[in-house]
Amino acid sequence: MALVELRNVSKIYQVGDEEIRALDDVTLDIENGEFISIIGPSGSGKSTLMHLLGCLDTPTHGTITLDGIQIQNATSMQLAAIRNRKIGFVFQSFNLLPKLNVAQNVEVPMIYAGVSSRERRERVMEALKRVGLENRAKHRPMQLSGGQQQRVAIARALINRPRIIFADEPTGNLDTHTGEAILTLFRELSQQGSTIVLVTHNPEIAAVTPRRIEIRDGKISINIDKRLAGLE
Ligand SMILES: Nc1ncnc2c1ncn2[C@@H]1O[C@H](COP(=O)(O)OP(=O)(O)OP(=O)(O)O)[C@@H](O)[C@H]1O
Ligand SMILES: [Mg+2]
Repeated sequence: MALVELRNVSKIYQVGDEEIRALDDVTLDIENGEFISIIGPSGSGKSTLMHLLGCLDTPTHGTITLDGIQIQNATSMQLAAIRNRKIGFVFQSFNLLPKLNVAQNVEVPMIYAGVSSRERRERVMEALKRVGLENRAKHRPMQLSGGQQQRVAIARALINRPRIIFADEPTGNLDTHTGEAILTLFRELSQQGSTIVLVTHNPEIAAVTPRRIEIRDGKISINIDKRLAGLE
């Protein structure tokens, strides 16, 4: 069984009299340990797909299984619990809490998960080491560079040892050099066994992942695995 299984999934929005098929009968498997990018033009359905994969929303039709759990009929509270335990998110705008310091930002998901304060402290330092920020624990987000802020967001995404990480345009607010460093960090995490899905407009970013899914008009138009194609 794959880590994520989508079967004939559609997401239809009703706007006035018009039906918008944001996602149209998509079937897709993501295996444990994969490093994948989702690419496609604006309005093609990338965010819609990521929201369904990331348990932020439920489909109009079809079934979604994440780590053996069927989620298409889950309530919003059940989805929140699944997200907290199984999913890490990284966003273009970092989404750090400005009044908390670096260590506290990374700690937040563990408070929701009910982890003891002693274990929280240990895990925060371990996660900050993993992203190379162990000497910035007491800084506020404002006192960090963009790349450092994104590293904090990645440490926070990793902190509950999620089954899968979704990164939506994670380098979109960074200069080229800093963006490359963040992609290198994702590649290292992938080599250490994390399952990572990158959502991007940028073909150069999509080129770093072994597998690439392209979406057009709510359908998967291309699904290439360079390893299977013998390209990597
Ligand atoms: N809440 C909503 N209500 C109605 N239509 C929606 C809603 N959200 C998305 N859509 C429509 O669904 C389609 C897919 O949108 P989506 O946000 O998934 O695109 P995207 O590929 O992420 O685009 P971008 O690259 O611009 O972020 C678009 O036509 C959009 O207008
Ligand atoms: Mg989008």
